[in-house]
Amino acid sequence: MNLWGGRFESPADETFARFNRSFDVDKRLFRFDVLASRGHCEGLRAAGVLSDEEATAISGALEAMLTRADSDARFFDGTDAEDVHTFIEAKLIEGLGETGRKIHTGRSRNDQVSTAFRMWLRAELALIEELVRALQGALVDVAEAHAATVLPGYTHLQRAQPVSFAHWCLAYFEMLARDRERISEAARRTNVMPLGSAALAGTSYPVDREAVAQSLGFAGVSKNSLDAVSDRDFAVDAVGACSLVMMHLSRFAEDVIVYSSVEFGLLRLGDAVSTGSSLMPQKKNPDALELIRGKSARVFGHHAALLALMKGLPLAYNKDMQEDKEAVFDAVDTVAESLRVAAIVVSHMEPDPARCMESATNGYLNATELADYLVAKGVPFRTAHD
Ligand code: ARG
Repeated sequence: MNLWGGRFESPADETFARFNRSFDVDKRLFRFDVLASRGHCEGLRAAGVLSDEEATAISGALEAMLTRADSDARFFDGTDAEDVHTFIEAKLIEGLGETGRKIHTGRSRNDQVSTAFRMWLRAELALIEELVRALQGALVDVAEAHAATVLPGYTHLQRAQPVSFAHWCLAYFEMLARDRERISEAARRTNVMPLGSAALAGTSYPVDREAVAQSLGFAGVSKNSLDAVSDRDFAVDAVGACSLVMMHLSRFAEDVIVYSSVEFGLLRLGDAVSTGSSLMPQKKNPDALELIRGKSARVFGHHAALLALMKGLPLAYNKDMQEDKEAVFDAVDTVAESLRVAAIVVSHMEPDPARCMESATNGYLNATELADYLVAKGVPFRTAHD
């Protein structure tokens, strides 16, 4: 079903119609678009645009739709809806007839999609922040369990000065602490409600946007309708924050891959996060870490794709923007899965204290200490260095 067929004389070309559809991707926003629709319905009720009876019927039908979607795995099957917004409105009309045809009063899919997308994203960002916190916890645990273990520290991947294993673990803890800040910043900017901007020019219905925003858990409302329907900064921000998480996980992966090779031998990786070779019986490979390192590329790609997607768009909404969801969904899924696996790797990784000590005590890693000793005796540092 189409929501916009009134002025058309012939149907869309089939191949184009398929090209135009986004339902298989954006059905992931279903729950949030239903909740936002209910908020909108209540806003229309309070403004006197919908009668009590109509609003009660619509809110009830939306509620029932959520229950139905949870209990019926085939609820989404076989629809020809263009996108999730069309799907929900069509279901309302199917159930309520004329009354269902009133839900779209004073809104557009343009403010609708941004509202649902933001609600979905703020929930995902909260989950990602929690996963980052869990990984920090795993790092602290392994650092505490091996608090006495020394590690050779490297610059240029050449042995430099001795550090502790815990010092190295907690370097990653700090990176993740910054990631958490970036994620909550992105979530804060995401948590602004565009609903009420309608297609681009706002709406003349006297809906109390602040009240609707509050009912949907938004911290505030967007100020400029042209900006609100064409803004995807929140998506770029979120995937940017995810990119930095992945960059940190990738560096961690690289460190552990190198340190656990036989040549270094500083760390041992558990069987639970390793794989074998189909050909070479002796092999044990750090696939979990290689995949984390590899998957970082996908997320960076999505970040670049979103910037490229937006850079040439005239105000306000353009259909190009429908492409944003696949990028953000995949970025968020990839970073969440990578964080889970990284935490498992950390809990299955163990330093080899003897080997670490041997590496840290061979190769003059204490040369700087010796120079400092001479400085304490009154020798100028440059002379001591020589
Ligand atoms: N599926 C669309 C998207 O994700 C919804 C907005 C469509 N709006 C429009 N005027 N065609 O962007």
